Amino acid sequence: MVPTRLHNTHPALRRCWHPVARSNEVTDAPVRTVLLGEPLVLFRSGETVSCFVDRCPHRRAPLSIGTCDGGTLQCAYHGWRFANDGRCVEIPALGPDAAVPSRARLTPVAQVAERSGMVFVAPDPPIAPLGHIAESEDPAYAVGELPPIRARASIGLLADNFLDMAHFPFVHAGTFGADEAAEVERYEVTREPWSFVARREHPFANREDPGVAEGLRPLVQSRRLTYRLDAPFHLQLRIDFVETGGTNVIGFFLQPETDETCRIYSTLWRNDLGGDPDAMAAAIKFELEVLEEDLRIQGAYDQLVLPLDTSAEIHTRSDRSTLELRRLLADLVAEAAR
Ligand code: FES
Ligand SMILES: [Fe+2]
Repeated sequence: MVPTRLHNTHPALRRCWHPVARSNEVTDAPVRTVLLGEPLVLFRSGETVSCFVDRCPHRRAPLSIGTCDGGTLQCAYHGWRFANDGRCVEIPALGPDAAVPSRARLTPVAQVAERSGMVFVAPDPPIAPLGHIAESEDPAYAVGELPPIRARASIGLLADNFLDMAHFPFVHAGTFGADEAAEVERYEVTREPWSFVARREHPFANREDPGVAEGLRPLVQSRRLTYRLDAPFHLQLRIDFVETGGTNVIGFFLQPETDETCRIYSTLWRNDLGGDPDAMAAAIKFELEVLEEDLRIQGAYDQLVLPLDTSAEIHTRSDRSTLELRRLLADLVAEAAR
């Protein structure tokens, strides 16, 4: 059957990678996170991050209110202790020499990975590979992490919004949009099986360039935008400033918690700030204002779903990337059902 729309906890999303925490949120104390309507517990032992369903196999108490010690996780209720591979290694009520039943195991997720300062989880074996941001491993780039934001929003619509190029003068008039042209020139979208890239180069007023006041460069300069989506919702926008040579990358990662809520992680990688922490703090503040402008629209939707049936909405040539989003996600849902 052709899927018609995607809600935040669509079962096909179990076969995908999702962000579940920032790396610095996962320490040697257990932490709870919610993915696709299911509570998970995360904890760290050395370099390894472990993730299990947040429910003890004994009496189903949440493990996230327990404690960690020496790479093991101990349930707060009856003290059962679990190794970081999920095996139960101690049941205090049975005494020190008792055999532990082999069924006493935590329920694991299929895969866990740490990348770009985030922890990602695939609940079931993933169809598509985990996305990658090359600049996140390049020491020439300074990193700025926005605080994670919980929002009442559809992850599909948020991804649509991140890729959308026609809303800037309307939604972002209070930040960067006032100078933006409404017209979107033709641009190319290149699809691979589980990702796509949209590239566009366009003129813009570079008010941040001190070289303009010094007469070194014109106010109107060129900006190259490279949007990339890796399925399902691993997004990046690379902005190359053609005349001044700087590069900004915005990473945008969406955690589907429930049908009503999601958690948004956004990270900046910039090679044009000369290591100035105040400049990065200002960039983070500005990006938060931009995100709030977007969330004002996203939070107002009554139906928190992304239509995958492309006849359900009107598309124009300025919507090529967001049309590709619908096609790619429809392919993903179909693949998961196979
Ligand atoms: S509920 Fe976890 S040890 Fe009993
Ligand atoms: Fe926006």
